[in-house]
Amino acid sequence: MDHLIQKAAEALSRARHVAVLTGAGVSKESGIPTYRDALTGLWANYRFEELATPEGFRANPGRVWDWYAERRAQMRGVNPNPGHYAMAALADLVPSLHITTQNIDDLHERGGSRDVLHLHGQLSQIKCYNDCQGNPTLVDESEMVIGAASPPTCPHCGAWLRPNVVWFGEILPPGAFDRATQAAVTSDVYIVAGTAGAVFPAAQLPWDAKEANKAIVIDINPEPTGGALRRALADSRRVGRAGQPDPRRARDRRHAEDGLPRPAR
Ligand code: APR
Repeated sequence: MDHLIQKAAEALSRARHVAVLTGAGVSKESGIPTYRDALTGLWANYRFEELATPEGFRANPGRVWDWYAERRAQMRGVNPNPGHYAMAALADLVPSLHITTQNIDDLHERGGSRDVLHLHGQLSQIKCYNDCQGNPTLVDESEMVIGAASPPTCPHCGAWLRPNVVWFGEILPPGAFDRATQAAVTSDVYIVAGTAGAVFPAAQLPWDAKEANKAIVIDINPEPTGGALRRALADSRRVGRAGQPDPRRARDRRHAEDGLPRPAR
């Protein structure tokens, strides 16, 4: 594995534009279960259709609201792990770094990363189910109209409130995928960390980076079964956990190689 880490460090030492795509695995070491862990995962006791689709919400809004409220409380009780901190530190070691995450938690931000693009929305935000004031109509917790039953309702139109997260069958936040694609196609190193790469369009981004700019793709995941898509893509697979990276290696390498021309593509 060490030679793969070495290769990844070399690529990062030469990188000009680094883009990162993260998924649930990055937050696992903070104590947030991933989506697809068979027994302990977030869907373990439910079908995702019940919790992560507009139909599931309409069928039982109280259950869905309460489930996300529990996730929100869980998120507040956990802390960023070394993986989050390392990505924030890496931003200071390379000329540019852009993080796109599928995660709805705020651990990248709390780990020190700025301008994180949340493709699937943010759990900390609440919005009107009808987006009555435009997409998204965010509602502060202090403005929520709380009745006898959950969910609370919108102070503007009386519709149910819901988490500002993207459910299956819904479109991504306006402009989000364009920005993620732009970061991918201009990157020369693309890091994929903690995602099964099973949900599109996010799973397409490493392809875009590879196709458009011959980016070197670095995959950080303890599971070798990441799917043919990512295995085909990965120039440098680190079979490890996201909470174990050491950005100092990249920095040391960068310093050692200072002044080297950028390798020809
Ligand atoms: N470090 C890195 N990767 C890890 C770690 C770790 N410590 N632990 C687990 N993983 C990997 C798993 O091997 C798996 O490949 O993280 C991945 C988690 O996969 P999923 O649970 O499918 O999460 P993700 O890929 O982020 O899901 C994408 O699907 O359900 C939807 O909207 C939801 O954003 C989510 C999207």
